Amino acid sequence: MEILHVSAECYPVAKVGGLADVVGALPKYQHDLGCVAKVVMPAYKSRFFEKNEFELVHQGGTWVGFNWYHVNVFREKNNVLGFDLYLLDIPGLLDQEGVYGHWNDMERFLAFQIAVLDWLNEWQHHPDVVHCHDHHTGFIPFMMTHAYKYERLRNIATVLTIHNAQYQGQFGWDQLYRLPGFDLWKAGLVGWDNAVNPLASAIKCAWRVTTVSPGYLEEMYNGANGLESLLRSERRKCKGILNGIDNKVWDPATDPMLPYHYDETSFVRGKKEIKRQLCEEFGFNPELPLFSFIGRLVGEKGADLLPDIIGRSLYEQQNQLNFLVLGSGESHTEWRLHQTKAGTGPNFNVQYGYNEGLSHRIYAGSDFLLMPSRVEPCGLNQLYALRYGTVPIVRSVGGLKDTVKDFGEPGGFGIRFIQAEAWDACQAVARAVELYNDPQALQEIQEYIMQIDHSWDSAAAEYVKLYESIIIRP
Ligand code: ADP
Ligand code: GLC
Repeated sequence: MEILHVSAECYPVAKVGGLADVVGALPKYQHDLGCVAKVVMPAYKSRFFEKNEFELVHQGGTWVGFNWYHVNVFREKNNVLGFDLYLLDIPGLLDQEGVYGHWNDMERFLAFQIAVLDWLNEWQHHPDVVHCHDHHTGFIPFMMTHAYKYERLRNIATVLTIHNAQYQGQFGWDQLYRLPGFDLWKAGLVGWDNAVNPLASAIKCAWRVTTVSPGYLEEMYNGANGLESLLRSERRKCKGILNGIDNKVWDPATDPMLPYHYDETSFVRGKKEIKRQLCEEFGFNPELPLFSFIGRLVGEKGADLLPDIIGRSLYEQQNQLNFLVLGSGESHTEWRLHQTKAGTGPNFNVQYGYNEGLSHRIYAGSDFLLMPSRVEPCGLNQLYALRYGTVPIVRSVGGLKDTVKDFGEPGGFGIRFIQAEAWDACQAVARAVELYNDPQALQEIQEYIMQIDHSWDSAAAEYVKLYESIIIRP
């Protein structure tokens, strides 16, 4: 079976969040199951593109409305990621730095999607499945079924994975003339709530729709940023498949980004040493428990609650703990964290920006990882924390609820709280401090969580089973 993943991100080529981690790992695990899994993504200006060897496999042109673009597709030559990677270059449009946030994102991703299909149309042998990820690839199922020029692609199964329904890529109807296959009779297949909506279009037109945890799917039927009734009406084709992690990349025994390595037999010493270095770097007392947060500083992640959680916990616990935050995002949250730092003294520090190496050291060197998310489709941070022997403290929502069981329950190993409110999170922090003060109980949990298997093995097989149920064999 051959699968083509189409995505805006893929680790380590270009990463903004968990989407990149998923697209950089799932195809590798599908490959191990005997599938041919390929990835095509935009050729942004990136170190990966500059540092690795590529061959030009396609040259052509693509119309987007009245604009014509040159298109080059490059294939990575040495299979460094464990699957075929194709970078689709549209000079002047896609070859900028940064994945999102350009003024012409709508044009960029529309052009990318059309160019992918123009290129695919020319393949001698087509894949069995085109697997689209999030709204940046959301028009592909519509175009494959309704654009006359892609008639040859009609029998290829399409799957949409919703990594996050908060972002839907909506734009106005006046731009629609650019979409191949569109006429007024088909407005219902591309629109939702009085706007053109690529995510809604993919939910309507893809053969199957998956979300990244079963818990999130259930929540989405009641609230998905306006898409809930659409999802309920398409319920028959929806499935929640819990993400995995790439155990080969995220392994404290071999992780090249860590200064010390450890496994479940040596974690006490290994983690202690990494924590010591981290505490030195951020001015903390290494004897105190270290609580960390890594992620986008946005409301969805509950980042706006952090200043209150930190201030209040430090007060309640009489400064007997440390907090470290790594992330960037909404300016008012960054500003409030800045003020909190000024007001709390040496027990809190924050590093703004994106830093892959530091994130690995924080997963390894912290005692607890805090995730007060309001919405969490899956969440990978808690899975990385578990693998690195760091106890996750999570709000009971979406994928966090599916992956973390409270240590107060039989077989539990993490800490959960219910409300996206500072007082509830502070209770959870207080329970964590108690656990920290019982080193034997903490170590038993750490040893256990490091051995939980969250690799992609089973999820990759679930996807293959789903593809098998829909593909059309010639
Ligand atoms: P989301 O995709 O919603 O941001 P996930 O939990 O699925 O959340 O994945 C986040 C990914 O991005 C993880 O690999 C996490 O380590 C990484 N990450 C988030 N913020 C940062 C940051 N500031 N520096 C380094 N890595 C980060
Ligand atoms: C999204 C979600 C996150 C999920 C990730 C990978 O960014 O916000 O919860 O883990 O996609 O699927």
